[in-house]
Amino acid sequence: MTPKIFISRIVPDPGLALIKEHFPPFDGAQGVDLWTADLPPTRAELIERSRGVDGLLCLLTDKVDGELMDAIGPQLKVISSMSVGVDHIDIPAATARGIPVGNTPGVLTDATADQTFALLLAAARRLAEGERYLRAGKWVTWSPSLLLGADLVGATLGIVGFGRIGQAVAKRAQGFDLRVIYHDPTSKPAYNAQPVDLDTLLRESDFVSIHVPLNSETKHLVNAEFLAKMKPSAVLVNAARGGILDQNALYHALKSKQIFAAALDVTDPEPLPMDSPLLELENCLIVPHLGSASKKTRDMMSLLAAQNLVAGLKGERLPNCFNPQVYG
Ligand code: NAP
Ligand code: GLV
Repeated sequence: MTPKIFISRIVPDPGLALIKEHFPPFDGAQGVDLWTADLPPTRAELIERSRGVDGLLCLLTDKVDGELMDAIGPQLKVISSMSVGVDHIDIPAATARGIPVGNTPGVLTDATADQTFALLLAAARRLAEGERYLRAGKWVTWSPSLLLGADLVGATLGIVGFGRIGQAVAKRAQGFDLRVIYHDPTSKPAYNAQPVDLDTLLRESDFVSIHVPLNSETKHLVNAEFLAKMKPSAVLVNAARGGILDQNALYHALKSKQIFAAALDVTDPEPLPMDSPLLELENCLIVPHLGSASKKTRDMMSLLAAQNLVAGLKGERLPNCFNPQVYG
C-alpha cells in the first residue's frame, strides 16, 4: 500500500523526484501531500495536514514536538528534516515513540563555512556599512580614516564547537594566515587548531565564531558574561542558531563598543522583527539564515532528506539518523 506522506514545503527537485520515483503519484489525500504555499504551514495547518501520515518531511521552520507526533498517530514511521540542526524537533519525544529522525549533515558543511567566512570578512571590513554609506550619497572623497576595519593576517580565530562546520571554517582560516584555537568537548586535531578552554578562547580571540548546536546547554551561551570576556576589538560571528545568543546582551555590547562588531546569519526569532534594536546598529550585520543557501547544497540537502524519508518508510535504517537509539 502507498504510504501517506506530508512534505511541509516545496523542496528542490532531486528530493521530490526521488520520492515520486518510490511513491507515485503526488495526489494529495492519497500518497504524497505537498504544501505548496511560500509560507510554512501554521501549527494548526501542520497538525491537520500531517494527521495520519506514515512519513513527515519537514523543515527547520516546523516545530515537531510530542503533541504533533501524537496528533499524526502511531503509524508515523519517520520524521525527516531538510536541515542538519534538529533543535526544532523534540528528539527525546521521537525516540520514546520509536520514530527515527533523519537530518542532513555534511552536504551543507562547505556552504555554511563559506557563509561564515563571508560574514567574518564583511564584519571585519565593514562592507554592509560601507555600502549603506555609499548608497546614502555620503562618499565624497577617499580618506585615510574612512571606515577602518580589522586585519585577518596574524589575528586569532576562536571557534566554539569544532565539529564539521567549525573545522571547515578552520580550513578556510589557514588561507588567511589566522591562528586558530577552538573550544569543544572533544579534542580534535585538525588544521593546526589548538584546543583551549572557553575563557582562554574569549580572552585571546580577535574573531569568535559559533558552531555549536542549539540545545538546553547552549541556549544563551553567548550572554553578557561571554561578551564581557571578549576583546573590545573582537568580531563575533554566529552562523549556528539564534537561540545560542542573548540578543539583548549583544545589543548592549555592540552599542557600548564592548566588542567591535557582530555578523549574524541566524536570529531569535526568525524572521527578526523589523523593530529589533539590533537593526539600529551600524556594527551589526544580519542576513536571513542563508548558511546553506547555494543551489547545489540545497539540491543535496533535499536529496538526503528524501533518502532518509524513503528508507524510513521502507522500514530500512535511515542513511543519516540523528537518534540511532531507536534501532536498539
Ligand atoms: P557538528 O558536526 O555536530 O558540530 C557541533 C560541534 O559542537 C560538535 O563537535 C559538538 O561536540 C560541539 N559542541 C556541542 N556542545 C558544545 C558546547 N557546549 N561547547 C563547545 N562545543 C560544543 O554539527 P555541524 O554540522 O558542524 O553543525 C553545527 C550547527 O550549525 C548545527 O547544529 C546547526 O544548528 C548550525 N547550522 C546552521 C546553518 C545555517 O544555515 N546558518 C547551516 C548548517 C548548520 P560533540 O559532538 O562532542 O557534542
Ligand atoms: C540550517 O540551519 C541547518 O541546520 O541545516
